[in-house]
Amino acid sequence: MSQPEVVTGIGELRARLEGRRVALVPTMGALHAGHLSLVDRASELADTVVVSIFVNPLQFGPAEDLERYPRDLAGDLAALDGRGVAYVFAPDASEMYPDGRPQITVRGGAVAELFEGRSRPGHFDGMLTVVAKLLGIVRPEFALFGQKDAQQLFLVQRMVRDLDIATRIEPVETVREPDGLALSSRNRYLSPAERAAAPALHRALEAAASAGDRGIDAVIAAAQSVLMGEELVGVDYLKVVDPRTFQPVPDDYRGPARVLIAAQVGPARLIDNDAIYLN
Ligand code: PAF
Repeated sequence: MSQPEVVTGIGELRARLEGRRVALVPTMGALHAGHLSLVDRASELADTVVVSIFVNPLQFGPAEDLERYPRDLAGDLAALDGRGVAYVFAPDASEMYPDGRPQITVRGGAVAELFEGRSRPGHFDGMLTVVAKLLGIVRPEFALFGQKDAQQLFLVQRMVRDLDIATRIEPVETVREPDGLALSSRNRYLSPAERAAAPALHRALEAAASAGDRGIDAVIAAAQSVLMGEELVGVDYLKVVDPRTFQPVPDDYRGPARVLIAAQVGPARLIDNDAIYLN
């Protein structure tokens, strides 16, 4: 197995993929072991694996990290070496958006305005728009998304269902550092002290899960007490949602749920989540 071929044009990519069964791994580059687990799962699902690398300006707010978002195509290709990826699709913004901001975009609706969407207005509409374009360009049988971005995954699954897009969305478990920190391209922004504080998000999720049999207030209190113990972790939100609707669960809810945490740790906005069961 060798390095993937880098393709930058939509027409070129379509010509190469004609008649193939494809699994797509959409990324913004700065690949880490979390992305590589998506790639490995993709190669179990289809003969031709395509990784897209595109830092999508549409999903960044004006005060966000679009300019300094890490870009390292050579490093990304080295990481993919020998992993069975046929093509890396690495278009520039003028290939994806030849007229600048597109006139027609995907709107994520009510769920896109909660949680991450409240803190990052327009983020999910921009993300869904680029994912819809990538699915239209590549026409994959499968597209793989990490569970770490649970709200993104939920919205992509809804988009595919609501718009009858013929791609199966395959969720892949979060990959973690040995101390529990979920892998993220933004972890590289952390100073050593911030890096040491960041696993509090995962510890809070574990505390939440172990309080599941005492009800929602106990779940929130358990997670909060872990997070409050780390002064470098500034919590943005801590929520428990129904995985079927992604809406916050009512106080008397019983059944499967997902705990979501977002926090500012120094310059990095970190998110994490896990499944729990509320008795
Ligand atoms: O999760 C990401 O890296 C991005 O949101 C995605 C799905 C590649 C769309 O730009």
